[in-house]
Amino acid sequence: MKDFDGVGHVLLSISIVLGSILVVESGIGVNWGTLSSHRLSPSVVVDLLKENKIGKVKIFDADPNVLRALMGSGIEVMIGIPNEMLGTLSSSPAVADLWVSQNVSRYAVKGGVNIRYIAVGNEPFLSNYQGQFQSFVLPAMVNLQQSLAKVNLAGYVKLVVPCNADAYEASLPSQGSFRPELTQIMTQIVSFLNSNGSPFIVNIYPFLSLYQSSDFPQDYAFFDGSTHPVVDGSNIYYNAFDGNFDTLVAALNKIGYGQMPIVIGEVGWPTDGAFSANLSAARAFNQGLINHVLSNKGTPLRPGVPPLDIYLFSLLDEEQKSILPGNFERHWGIFSFDGQAKYPLNLGLGNGILKNAKDVEYLPSRWCVANPSQDLGSASNHMKLACSMADCTTLLYGGSCNAIGEKGNISYAFNSYYQLQKQDARSCDFDGLGMVTFLDPSIGDCHFLVGVTDNNCSCVGCGILCGLWIMTLWVVIYLRIFESP
Ligand SMILES: *[C@@H]1O[C@H](CO)[C@@H](O)[C@H](O)[C@H]1NC(C)=O
Ligand SMILES: *[C@@H]1O[C@H](CO)[C@@H](O)[C@H](O)[C@H]1NC(C)=O
Ligand SMILES: *[C@@H]1O[C@H](CO)[C@@H](O)[C@H](O)[C@H]1NC(C)=O
Repeated sequence: MKDFDGVGHVLLSISIVLGSILVVESGIGVNWGTLSSHRLSPSVVVDLLKENKIGKVKIFDADPNVLRALMGSGIEVMIGIPNEMLGTLSSSPAVADLWVSQNVSRYAVKGGVNIRYIAVGNEPFLSNYQGQFQSFVLPAMVNLQQSLAKVNLAGYVKLVVPCNADAYEASLPSQGSFRPELTQIMTQIVSFLNSNGSPFIVNIYPFLSLYQSSDFPQDYAFFDGSTHPVVDGSNIYYNAFDGNFDTLVAALNKIGYGQMPIVIGEVGWPTDGAFSANLSAARAFNQGLINHVLSNKGTPLRPGVPPLDIYLFSLLDEEQKSILPGNFERHWGIFSFDGQAKYPLNLGLGNGILKNAKDVEYLPSRWCVANPSQDLGSASNHMKLACSMADCTTLLYGGSCNAIGEKGNISYAFNSYYQLQKQDARSCDFDGLGMVTFLDPSIGDCHFLVGVTDNNCSCVGCGILCGLWIMTLWVVIYLRIFESP
């Protein structure tokens, strides 16, 4: 604990010294979600972060496997508390103590995890939740803050509350205010954040504005200027991001905290599952965003003051996410599920374009497809079942596999299911309609995946390799012993 605090103070004083000489640039981080059945091993993901010089990561829980992999990396981490836990945390200081000791202080050691933020809930004020978490947030924060203070981490680890942009509203940015039913609680929370030196965290999604409204001007979602700028008195907005950001600034100003630092907790663009979710749009948005933020231009209400940090949504695709918001929901990654860059993107971290994950352990190169010698008339039920468990969202309207034909559809569904089942032979049966092939059935932009294994010795081949490795070790030791004079 002492060591960790020491590190904190040193870092703090370095940043104060640097801050007085240099312009402080926004930090570029990523969200690392794990709702995937094709999970890379956490150490491969941490290497991917390091390889791309990504120094800030936001996770949605406190998964010990993920946190162990982050140990010693120096990467700044924001861990999350799921909304469902807010009730118990708000009701009991002892629960908060336990949560902090299990999920924060055990990692706050030399060579541990550089936890800087704890997200208390995830968009707990989302209007869809109809207020069910609302009253728990502040009492949970009070308990957690006391728990942090008890273990001397209150100065280093900051509590924050990532909010959806639906917490505020306005027809023009300068009119921004929090939703009326949230004004009181937001005032209390922002005051709490302010007294602890925490930023306000907001998630901003121009993609959703475009997706949800047919009269949203497309070019206003991006950063190359707009033929439909928003004129707000003497301020002119050329992109949705700035407009949204300043609506929040105005809302904060209205409750007396117009200077509150703002962090963008989630921002990004999906690449599949909807017409405007494609590679070129995602690249244009994310590169435009990064360049805009790093230009330090700021916005009309905060000229020269860009967001403190932005966390891209998302690092990797997650094919087990709910598609309630839309089929694009599983395709937000700047990398595909297996850590391969989807498009060239320069994160502005002095490292050129994205670099792919290394040492990814794939399952063998084989796929399950529809057997061409069978009558596929009865395949639709199998297909439905396969797609109820595995991901078939790319087959739907606006998806990259939407035009591969009926047999292609069936094959795609069979293969998704087969890979989900880690290529278990029985999972490619489908009453004799499926067959395993060693020829990649991918067609054009429609990619038939091969799954990954998330630990080094789970597949038979790797098991044998591990066995050989251990045998070699013993032989070496044996030889050493008997060769030494
Ligand atoms: C630590 O966090 C994990 C993941 O959010 C949670 O499941 C676990 O219950 C937490 N530990 C405690 C003691 O609350
Ligand atoms: C990709 O999305 C953009 C933004 O909506 C759209 O203008 C463009 O036509 C799409 N490109 C393709 C190839 O579908
Ligand atoms: C393939 O499936 C998709 C999604 O259900 C559908 O839109 C498309 O029309 C199908 N193609 C054929 C040829 O049936």
